[in-house]
Amino acid sequence: MVGTFITFEGCDGSGKTTQVQRLAGLMRSEGYEVVTTREPGGTPGADAVRHVVLSGAAQSLGPNIEAVLFAAARADHLSQVIRPALEREAIVICDRFHDSTRVYQMGADETDQAFLARLEAATLDGVFPDLTIILDVPAELGVERARARRSASAADRFEGEEAEVHRKRRDRFLSIAENEPERCVVIDGRGDEEEIMEDIVAVIEDRLGIVLTTGGTGTATDAGSA
Ligand SMILES: Nc1ncnc2c1ncn2[C@@H]1O[C@H](COP(=O)(O)OP(=O)(O)OP(=O)(O)O)[C@@H](O)[C@H]1O
Ligand SMILES: [Mg+2]
Repeated sequence: MVGTFITFEGCDGSGKTTQVQRLAGLMRSEGYEVVTTREPGGTPGADAVRHVVLSGAAQSLGPNIEAVLFAAARADHLSQVIRPALEREAIVICDRFHDSTRVYQMGADETDQAFLARLEAATLDGVFPDLTIILDVPAELGVERARARRSASAADRFEGEEAEVHRKRRDRFLSIAENEPERCVVIDGRGDEEEIMEDIVAVIEDRLGIVLTTGGTGTATDAGSA
């Protein structure tokens, strides 16, 4: 695999989608071929599987089978979008990937952790991100941003979540970064968009040797808004 695979991770409202779009725009303005994509979803096949999971139809099959379905969605996304792009040497930027599965699904006590780890390895099948940027914001700020973004009429399950849940997820993201320092970089997501972009550009240069000038940030057109 010869392209570059970058993932963005972090809690809800940490600024992932915002920064993915900015970074993709900047890279494109410098002439790079960039494919932006996201999880969950990313392909019609993945969306179809996700639909089944969210419908509740698979719930009675238990958490392991549910995890297999999520893995099927990721396998489709990998084979349809990520692998082909990497094979033609593009830069792939994915808005959430396997770390989010670790944080959101593997955190649940009732699931078999060893099973999930084997499933992850089988699903990724050697395609690991070259760089993972974890945007880190205090739980309260993430909740506040996510809330501000959603209109009152579009309240969803995230609305009711306490900052405590976010705190636990944030800790899990940070411990992934601690365990895999070669792959992961934690970036403070509290500043303004511009400052955060500059920090990201510095990391991209340092870790991947891709030099970008933070001047014109074009607009990404195919980024899914997760
Ligand atoms: N640095 C920033 N300062 C202030 N507001 C921001 C900043 N970055 C993003 N926002 C705003 O906060 C909200 C959440 O940002 P964004 O959608 O990028 O987060 P996300 O990490 O993708 O969230 P989710 O996990 O829910 O998809 C948006 O309304 C966005 O415009
Ligand atoms: Mg998002």
